Amino acid sequence: MGDAPEQHGIETFQAEGLSFPPDASTAAAANARADLYERASADPVAFWAEQARELLTWRRPFTKTLEWELPFAKWFDDGELNVSENCVDRHVAAGRGDKVAFHWIGEPGDRRTVTYNDLLREVQKTANALKALGVAKGDRVAIYMPMVPEVAIAMLACARLGAAHSVVFSGFPANALADRINDATAKVLITADGGYRKGNFFELKPIADEALKSSPSVTGVLVYQRRQPGTAGTTAMQAGRDHWWHEFVPGQPAECPADPMPAEQLLYLLYTSGTTAKPKGIMHTSAGYLLGATFTHRAVFDIKPDDVYWCAADVGWVTGHSYIVYGPLSNGATQVMYEGTPDTPAWDRWWSIVEELKVTILYCAPTAIRAFMRQGDEHPQGHDLSSLRLLGSVGEPINPEAWLWYREMIGGNRTPIVDTWWQTETGSILISPLPGVTTTKPGSATFPLPGVSADVVDDSGASVPLGSGGYLTLTKPWPSMLRGIWGDPERYKETYWSRFPGSYFAGDGARRDADGYYWLLGRVDDVMNVSAHRISTIEVESALVDHHSVAEAAVVGKSDPLTGQAIVGFVILKKGIDPTPALLEELRAHVGKNIGAIAKPKHLEFVPELPKTRSGKIMRRLLRDIAEGRNLGDVTTLADSSIVEVIRAATGAADE
Ligand code: PRX
Repeated sequence: MGDAPEQHGIETFQAEGLSFPPDASTAAAANARADLYERASADPVAFWAEQARELLTWRRPFTKTLEWELPFAKWFDDGELNVSENCVDRHVAAGRGDKVAFHWIGEPGDRRTVTYNDLLREVQKTANALKALGVAKGDRVAIYMPMVPEVAIAMLACARLGAAHSVVFSGFPANALADRINDATAKVLITADGGYRKGNFFELKPIADEALKSSPSVTGVLVYQRRQPGTAGTTAMQAGRDHWWHEFVPGQPAECPADPMPAEQLLYLLYTSGTTAKPKGIMHTSAGYLLGATFTHRAVFDIKPDDVYWCAADVGWVTGHSYIVYGPLSNGATQVMYEGTPDTPAWDRWWSIVEELKVTILYCAPTAIRAFMRQGDEHPQGHDLSSLRLLGSVGEPINPEAWLWYREMIGGNRTPIVDTWWQTETGSILISPLPGVTTTKPGSATFPLPGVSADVVDDSGASVPLGSGGYLTLTKPWPSMLRGIWGDPERYKETYWSRFPGSYFAGDGARRDADGYYWLLGRVDDVMNVSAHRISTIEVESALVDHHSVAEAAVVGKSDPLTGQAIVGFVILKKGIDPTPALLEELRAHVGKNIGAIAKPKHLEFVPELPKTRSGKIMRRLLRDIAEGRNLGDVTTLADSSIVEVIRAATGAADE
C-alpha cells in the first residue's frame, strides 16, 4: 500500500465553483436519460439484464444474470452469443452493410474506407486463415500490429472462433512481446512488417522474430504488409512458419459461421502493469464485457447513426479495445482510425482530419490535449471544427485548465466534455458524465454511471463524508469487470480484493466534493501514469538493476505539466563505476530497450544511498518529495535520517 491519497493528490485547483449544465439541444436528443440512475440503483442486476437483452444479439437467451462468488463473477452464464456477430454480421443483416465502419488514414496520407460489408468478408476469411494455422476455440493468439484496419479484423476473427487475443502494443520491445506470448502460450502471432510513425517506417517483423526465438508456443505467423509499394526495404520470412496476409488470407473460404459462444468465453487477455515487475494478463470474457463496452459507448458518447466518431487511442491499450473495436462496432458506428502521431507532418494533423471527415465526437487523453495547448491555438484555429459535438478525455486526471481549453478551443465553447474514469481491469467506463444529463465541473469525472456502485473510503474501509478524500472502491460487481489474472487467481484476489474486504480496490485516490462529485487524484500504489500509460515503478527499477553497472535503484513518478507524471529514478552504482553523463544516457536507453520508450526515465540521478526504513523498505514518499522539491515531512522512521540530506545534495538537478 502506498501513501494516503490526500498527501498524494495531483496539484490542481479544484474548480468546484465552475459548472456547465447540459445544453438544451444535447439534452433533448440524448441517448441517456436521467431516470437511468434511479432504475439502475433500484435493482442493478435487473438493470444490467434489461440492457443485455436490449443491446446485444443473443443466440441463446440467458436465464441467470449474475453468479457472484466474491471475487469471481459470472454474468449471463447460461446465455450464448458471438461477439463478432454482434460487431459485424448484425449490422449487415439489418441492411447497413454499406455503412462505413472505418475511415482509415495512414500517416503518409494514404486512405482506405472499410464498410461493414468489407468487415464481414475480411473477418470471415481471416478467421478461416487462423483455423488453417491451427487456431481453435479456447486458444490464444498474440497480435502485434500498427494502427491499420486489419488489427480490428484480426481481433474480431479471433472472437469469431472463440480464441482469445492478446494485443501487445507495437511500441513494446522484443522481450516484452516474448513475455506476453509465453505467459499466454499463444499459438499464432499476427503482426506486420511495420508501420508509419513520425514520418518514418518502423520495422516490427524483426522485433517479432527476435521475440519468437524464445517463444516456442508460436507455430504460425501471419504478417500484414504495410510498407508502401515502391519503397525500399525487405522483410525476412521464415518458410513454413510465416505467411504474408495478402497471400494467405484472400484465398481462404468466404464463409466462417459465427458459432454461438458461452457468455463467459474468454475474449481477450490484455497485459498491464501492476505493483510487481511482472505484467499481469487481465482476463475479459465475452457477453459482460461486450455489454459494458456497448452500453457505455452508447450512453457516454451518445452515439447516433450519422456520427463520425474518433477515438485517438492505440489499439494496444484497453481504450482501443473497448472504444475502437468492441463498443463502437457493436453499436454500428462510423469511425476514424489514424495511423500516426499528431505532429506529423505538422501539429494541425488531427484538426485537418476533423475538418475533412466532419468528425462529430473526439476521444483522447489529457496528455495530447496539453501537448496541443503548448503548440499554440493557431493549429486548431486554422481549421473548421464546427462538426464536433462531443469531446471525451481518458487515461489520467485532466487538469481544469486543459479541460477548459479543450472545450473552448476544440469544442467552440459548445460541446459537452465527458471525462471518463476507468481501467484495463474495469473493461469499460465506470465514472463519467452523461451528455445531456449531467452538469459537469472541469476536472471532475462527476458520478458513477447507472448500474455502477462506487465509494470513497478511509484506511479502515469506512466511507468518508462528502468533502473529503480517500481510496476509490467499487462495491458491487459489474458486467465488464475483469474475471481474473491469467494463470494467477491468488494474485487477482490479493491485488484487488484484499485491501478492503468485499470491495474492489482500484488503486486510485479520489475525493468527493460537497455535491458528491468524484475528483480522481491519481494512483496511490506503486504504479505511475505517464502520458496516460500505466508503468510500474518496480518494472523500471528491475530494468535499471538489470544493467551491469547498477547496484540498486528506486523510481518514483513526479508531476509533469505535459505527461501528467514523469519518471524519476535514483540509482546507486556498483563500486568502482564512474557516474558519468554518458552512463545516465546508457541507463535510460537500457530501460527503453527492456520495457519500451514510454518507460524511459525523464531524469536519473546517481545517489550514494537510498532512504530506507529500519526494515529495509525504500521510502518512496520521501523520494517523491525530493523529486517534487517539497518540504519533507516526518523522517523519523528512516534508519538514517542524514541520508536525506546526502541525497538532496546529490540530486540538486532533479528539477527541470
Ligand atoms: O489512475 C487511473 C487512470 O488510469 C488508470 C488506469 O490505467 P489503464 O488501465 O491503463 O487504463 C487507461 C484507460 C482507461 C486508473 O487507475 N485514469 C484513467 N482514466 C482516468 C484516470 N485518472 C483520472 N481520470 C480519468 N478519467
